Amino acid sequence: MEILPSGDACGAEIRGVDLAGPLDEATRAAILQALVAHGMIVFRDQDVPATRQVELTEMLGEADLYSLSEYCLADQPEVLLVSNIQEDGRNIGLADAGTTWHTDSSYLEIPPFATLLHAIEVPVDGEGRVLGDTLFASAAMAYDLLEPDLKQRLDGLQAIHSYEAKHRARARLGRSDRNPPKAEESERLAPVLHPIVRRHPVSGRPALFVTAGECTAIPGIEEAEALALIDRLTMLVTDGRTIHRHHWRRGDFVVWDNCQLQHLAIKDYALPQRRLMHRTQVKGTKPA
Ligand code: SIN
Repeated sequence: MEILPSGDACGAEIRGVDLAGPLDEATRAAILQALVAHGMIVFRDQDVPATRQVELTEMLGEADLYSLSEYCLADQPEVLLVSNIQEDGRNIGLADAGTTWHTDSSYLEIPPFATLLHAIEVPVDGEGRVLGDTLFASAAMAYDLLEPDLKQRLDGLQAIHSYEAKHRARARLGRSDRNPPKAEESERLAPVLHPIVRRHPVSGRPALFVTAGECTAIPGIEEAEALALIDRLTMLVTDGRTIHRHHWRRGDFVVWDNCQLQHLAIKDYALPQRRLMHRTQVKGTKPA
């Protein structure tokens, strides 16, 4: 197994591993270590059926279910389809996944530790270029780069993360046509409070954990000032220095660590350009 760091603030390619075949304990541990060290890892040219993806997810922790079941495979509910493909006039998968900067499902009390995304189909333009890149930003590096007085100001502050606000913000930007949540969803996905700076559960490294649009308030700080601080921190997280851009190839198997990264899926393609990803996630711990 060979690990090639991207040279950016995060990201590494792992070579010499066939994820469809058996993996011994040393390889499993090395993959987990590389994930924590680099935040995002990619294995190229992987032929991994959905059942195997669930096994790989379980090698990194406990497989978690996505918060909405509509686009999960009926016989493999851990696997969510992320896709713009339509059949009989209906989306076969979640079409707006990741279209604003975020960490996955941060609107939950216990958001997932890691997400695994396998590229089954990638959209291609007329010149053969693959579209639909994903940007990853190191929220840990963003924290490291803060001025000491801002670090001190953030100490102990919490922000409210809201599912409804996240999807309203995406819709406002024209990046989501998701139906407004039903009463049951709004109740189940009620806003939660998380620390603005979270420590990584394995490495202990601090990272900013706040997103404009999704974070609606900071208790103890007046609304306009809180929203301005959330915007400022979001800009710092997505500052050019923190970013790694993943250019997908069919068969890419990408894993990212939500405890230290944020990400953004670029929606620069449209049907008949098709994108289909299999997505699973590893259960996390309460951000602290
Ligand atoms: C996600 O945010 O879960 C999906 C990212 C992508 O489709 O690139």
